Amino acid sequence: MRVAREGNSWTKSALLRWVAVAVLALGVFSPKTRAQVKALDAEGHQWWQHAVFYEIYPRSFADSNNDGIGDLNGITSKLDYLKALGVDAIWITPCYPSPQVDFGYDVSDYENIDPMYGTLQDFDRLESEAQKRGIRIIMDFVMNHSSDQHAWFKESRSSRENPKRDWYIWRDGKGPNQPPNNWLSTFGGPAWKFDPTTGQWYYHYFYVEQPDLNWRNPDVEKAMFDVTRWWYKRGVAGFRLDAVDTLFEDPNLHDNPVLPGKNKYADPNTQEVYNKKLPELHGVLQRLRQVADESDAVLIGETWTKDIDELKQYYGEHSDELQMPMDFLFARVDKLSPSAFRKQIAGVNSAGWPVYVLSNHDIERAYVRYGDGVHNDAIAKVMAGLYLTLRGTPIMYYGEEIGMTNNNPQRKEDVKDPIGKVGWPEEKGRDGERTPMQWNDTANAGFSKAAPWLPVPPSYKTHSVTDELKDADSILNFYKRVLAVRHNEPALAEGEYIALNESDPNVLSYLRRYKNEAVLVVLNMSGSEQEASFDLSSQGFSSPTASTLVTTLTTHPRQMSLSSMPLDAFSVYIGKISK
Ligand code: GLC
Ligand code: CA
Repeated sequence: MRVAREGNSWTKSALLRWVAVAVLALGVFSPKTRAQVKALDAEGHQWWQHAVFYEIYPRSFADSNNDGIGDLNGITSKLDYLKALGVDAIWITPCYPSPQVDFGYDVSDYENIDPMYGTLQDFDRLESEAQKRGIRIIMDFVMNHSSDQHAWFKESRSSRENPKRDWYIWRDGKGPNQPPNNWLSTFGGPAWKFDPTTGQWYYHYFYVEQPDLNWRNPDVEKAMFDVTRWWYKRGVAGFRLDAVDTLFEDPNLHDNPVLPGKNKYADPNTQEVYNKKLPELHGVLQRLRQVADESDAVLIGETWTKDIDELKQYYGEHSDELQMPMDFLFARVDKLSPSAFRKQIAGVNSAGWPVYVLSNHDIERAYVRYGDGVHNDAIAKVMAGLYLTLRGTPIMYYGEEIGMTNNNPQRKEDVKDPIGKVGWPEEKGRDGERTPMQWNDTANAGFSKAAPWLPVPPSYKTHSVTDELKDADSILNFYKRVLAVRHNEPALAEGEYIALNESDPNVLSYLRRYKNEAVLVVLNMSGSEQEASFDLSSQGFSSPTASTLVTTLTTHPRQMSLSSMPLDAFSVYIGKISK
């Protein structure tokens, strides 16, 4: 084995790399040790920079005990599917004990599994089975708030003198029946709830049942950081941090400025300057990162930023905060607009290591957002061809790979997500993007033998894992091919991003260049045929052709001329270029 040396002493990264290889070779990886070994590749990239992440909403993925609700054993039973798809890490949204007011985002015990999802033993089995397949597990860390049924909050609300009183945010009202200020819950109504036991109000940015933790209290920080340590010891490889924007509030409780008009809950519009993105949160993220670094773990942020500058701040001034703040601005490019995507890609490339997301359990599915209602399958492939080949880490959302659609409730009485009840009909809630995974075209899409907690959309007859595996041109097989190429081509793992033909209004093209090789990605985002042409001599490539890696072009060319590339409507061409 050759090990890089610098003079007589090994560089730190070479040593770390050597240790990683040695540990792998000895086969002594156990859930407890894996996380502590930092493996860097030749470019100094860490594991999460090459991993494809996949979000699982556990209620809806696979139901092993046929009660209509997905569970951990269901996830374990599908690990082979995920491995074959090309997934390297799964992020499981909260499966902790919870009254399920916000379907798990109201946690009543951070160090256990809700019986509806299984047991800690089931979790350990999932973890070890995942590890056998080289799949890492990311848990969801609901930091901003707990459930009102958490023991901490029960104590906190019991008396003003309770030692946990200050673990949450309690204040006197402005007067009788008057909350302390004008802050609003993002789920509708005031962000304050009067609690008669002690005659004070507590703050909740989300539902009334989700009181905000007081991150100014060092005991809260310690207890919450210990939660992450507890899961690292169990083998988890990182956390997706829920609602980080709202960790801190102005201690002086200034009113937020009121803007004209009303929001979808008929509350006045306000500018949330005093209860969002306060600078103090960066200190917490830095310290949480130090804990994560002890276990080579990754922190992914639910970061709703308004621009690239805000996004930049979440990486930390010295890259010492979140390794993977999600770029939701990319998902907000809600139309097939090459110019808008170019702008966003360039922006996030300048901010830090990009993290691309098309959808999640809070966002309408990409299939319908980008789809035109006629060519949705072709468009789904264009979007996959885009974000799975960019420089950065993609986070898929379960079902996206088979073209799952939104299935919004038609009647208010069918709504499960509370915001859909409060905001009906303008806000129908998030049930539509959380429906059961469509495994096959039998009853309940093969998700469960019992009626699922949310109805399966009719599209399970045409879009399911079993059916799509049989169809060479399916969305699923396209995802599998792109992900295989992503894992095999060094240029897609390591290469820089070079925008091409930047004034083309219809075709988004770029090069991922690494050493003597490059991968060319050409995406026709328009509904008409296009012709693209490339001169890559200034990039150092004189070859007149590309060798096809993956394409949706009906001609299935094995080689493609760079000077004149005919493109079908909504099509993808990915080819390899050598010097
Ligand atoms: C995040 C979650 C969302 C949840 C909210 C409150 O935005 O993604 O589903 O309702 O936080 O925890
Ligand atoms: Ca179940």
